[in-house]
Amino acid sequence: MPPRKIIIDTDPGQDDAVAILLALAAPELQVLGITTVAGNVPLALTARNARVICELAGRPDIFVFAGADRPLQRTLVTAEHVHGKTGLDGIALPEPRMPLQDAHAVDFIVQTLRDEPPGAVTVCTLGPLTNIAMALQKAPDIAERIAAIVLMGGAYFEVGNITPAAEFNIYVDPEAAHKVFASGIDLTVMPLDVTHKALTTETHLQAFRDMGTRVGDAVAAWTDFFERFDKEKYATPGAPLHDPCVIAYLLRPDLFSGRHVNVEIELHSALTRGMTVADWWGVTPRRPNAMFMGDVDADGFFALLAERIGTL
Ligand code: BDR
Ligand code: CA
Repeated sequence: MPPRKIIIDTDPGQDDAVAILLALAAPELQVLGITTVAGNVPLALTARNARVICELAGRPDIFVFAGADRPLQRTLVTAEHVHGKTGLDGIALPEPRMPLQDAHAVDFIVQTLRDEPPGAVTVCTLGPLTNIAMALQKAPDIAERIAAIVLMGGAYFEVGNITPAAEFNIYVDPEAAHKVFASGIDLTVMPLDVTHKALTTETHLQAFRDMGTRVGDAVAAWTDFFERFDKEKYATPGAPLHDPCVIAYLLRPDLFSGRHVNVEIELHSALTRGMTVADWWGVTPRRPNAMFMGDVDADGFFALLAERIGTL
């Protein structure tokens, strides 16, 4: 079977980095390009970090594009308190030498979806949805050309991580999320309900260290770094590896389970802005618009990560 074509839209971020490495390690996937967005850190850093990660993986041939430097309507909120000043704190890696592509990320997304046959490209999003919303705004015809969007964002039973009600990626640009959730595109959502079950343990970290590779060392060091924040916050022995769930789902959908339900984005309330209101119990007549995941086989997930990342 030919590899599945994907675009990764991202705001790296250590967990974004692990997701990108997993994708680059997977022969089942063909990464057409990586588009970056402002999120965990400002755009200049996410565009830099994406290239640092590609070079670490030995893939300077991957096209990296910079996209939106701010949300559609709101002031950018970043997360250096979790990811450090660079977004990739934890290990010193060389400045990238591979170029940033000239085109804007949104133009790349639109052009690629128009050039490829309908239904050929899956879009994987690991950050705020600004670039995707801008692409849909600019070229509404791409909605029916996208095979699916698999995204990390939102929360229902776990509620929020940046406010009591909202998850970071959706909170940063709720208007963009609203546009994507209303688009009619086939959506699969990895909310905190799932990612908070994908907790690292000392054994997982050791498995990465034991690889004896630069990539294994980097993954262990990154995880070590951002764990400190989450372990204290959640009083758990490890930290959630959010974004790799998106790529793991493409490789092993059987590791995840959830429900096809209606999900709406709260835009107006100051208290709950950015909340993903999931009709988990089907108590409204609203049309289901997303596969909202709720569970993951964490052992299977970490085994997949170790097996694939060990090949880099
Ligand atoms: C999401 O926010 C970011 O901090 C992570 O990279 C992940 O995409 C988790 O809420
Ligand atoms: Ca991210």
